[in-house]
Amino acid sequence: MPAPAGPTVASPHDAADPAPAPLAGGTRGPHALHPLLGTVLDALAEGAADRHGPFPAGGPEAVTARMRARALPVLPETGTGAHEALHTLVGALAEGSADPADPRCAAHLHCPPLALAAAADLAAAALNPSLDSWDQAPAATALEALTTRALAALAYPRHPAPDALVTTGGTESNQLALLLAREAAKETATPLRIVCGANAHHSIHRAAWLLGLPAPLTLPTPAGTLDPTRLHDALTDPATTGTPTLVIATAGTTDTGRIDPLPALADLCHTHGARLHIDASYGGPLLFSDTLRPALDGLDRAHTIAVDLHKLGWQPVAAGLLAVPDTTALHPLAHHADYLNAPDDTRAGLPDLLGRSLRTTRRPDILKIAVTLRALGRRGLGDLVERVCAAAAHLADLIDAHPGFDLYARPTLSTVLFRPTPTDDRTTAGLRRTLLHHGHAVLGRTTTPEGLWLKATLLNPHTTPDDLRTLLTLVEGQVRR
Ligand SMILES: Cc1ncc(COP(=O)(O)O)c(C=O)c1O
Repeated sequence: MPAPAGPTVASPHDAADPAPAPLAGGTRGPHALHPLLGTVLDALAEGAADRHGPFPAGGPEAVTARMRARALPVLPETGTGAHEALHTLVGALAEGSADPADPRCAAHLHCPPLALAAAADLAAAALNPSLDSWDQAPAATALEALTTRALAALAYPRHPAPDALVTTGGTESNQLALLLAREAAKETATPLRIVCGANAHHSIHRAAWLLGLPAPLTLPTPAGTLDPTRLHDALTDPATTGTPTLVIATAGTTDTGRIDPLPALADLCHTHGARLHIDASYGGPLLFSDTLRPALDGLDRAHTIAVDLHKLGWQPVAAGLLAVPDTTALHPLAHHADYLNAPDDTRAGLPDLLGRSLRTTRRPDILKIAVTLRALGRRGLGDLVERVCAAAAHLADLIDAHPGFDLYARPTLSTVLFRPTPTDDRTTAGLRRTLLHHGHAVLGRTTTPEGLWLKATLLNPHTTPDDLRTLLTLVEGQVRR
């Protein structure tokens, strides 16, 4: 048959064809990566030095102008080469980043990743296993199974076969928890009812919307935690008798870091036949600490638990988990796509991964987690958790002793709410934006019934008392202006 007419394509073996960009994998990948890493690391150091602090100064316009000057043209006709592109863009990103490794960057549940976890993540990127089928990720499949079971056993120590899914974070974990609850309630005539506190993460409401469930009944939480009396009233409301119910409790709220009274809430769920999901995205890693773990008593009575290791676990994003007391609880997620988990392959013993996520292609986020667990051990991680909680307690002491500041409450985890006194909400909000604009400090904001507060979320285990004094001095400096 004559060859079809069409454009001429150069043969890959054509002597005139320039060598394509080197690959990261295989035996030669590390040799190709080595010099590039030198460029990346230099650019990271230069960018951080050029930033002169925790945050780029000048606000969105200045940051965008600096990025335009470095990043354009985005798609040049002829490329600039690996070293130039890495140096320019990594440097620009580092210079313009909010850097959680700086103790004055303490706004959000945005942790500074450990160097060893970032190094492991490079290996994950180079090898690029994809956890949607065993034939794309044989060793990663085994490592994920071992690691998720070990972490789930920490959350459910008294259960014989606990398991956990790896997620992109609390948002996805909460969504999966609602999905599992919806599936468990499928046989009943009425749709699943969700009951949460006003302190629950916004992703609960979004997940209900996404899954076609009625909007959650949201109980007021003026004291910051879900009140068992209010939950009792909601669970005994005669109008909802027989309605399958999922209760959401939070262990470590986004706004204040408080932990709902888990044992009392679990008792109520048990008595009234409701399912319980505990969003421990923030507070879950207290499990690593011998001294702090008791604050999570009752956690193992939940049907599902969300835990994030990119918050109090010092992992690069993403490192979320959804734990269940028994691996069979995950069966509703089973799914079939012949090219990934053909029944005869599964019968022949090839692990079926499709039911372990709603995603298809999936990064081996487990590698950095497993490396961290092995390198630091439970005690090492517990020590980091204790350090940031102790730093928060110290910051609260400093604020308490300062006549120019009001402390909202003693911290439960590593979140401290405070504000200058006297102040009003407009001044407090403006003060936060001024600190951001100058790139001096990154603080968050939280509104309670008492008004607006500055929020310091301390996730840097290297933070010293001097760093905390500097932070307060910076805030004080703005108040005096
Ligand atoms: C309590 C809680 N749950 C869930 C989430 C969502 O986590 P992610 O942003 O990792 O999806 C957050 C985020 O801060 C949170 O504080």
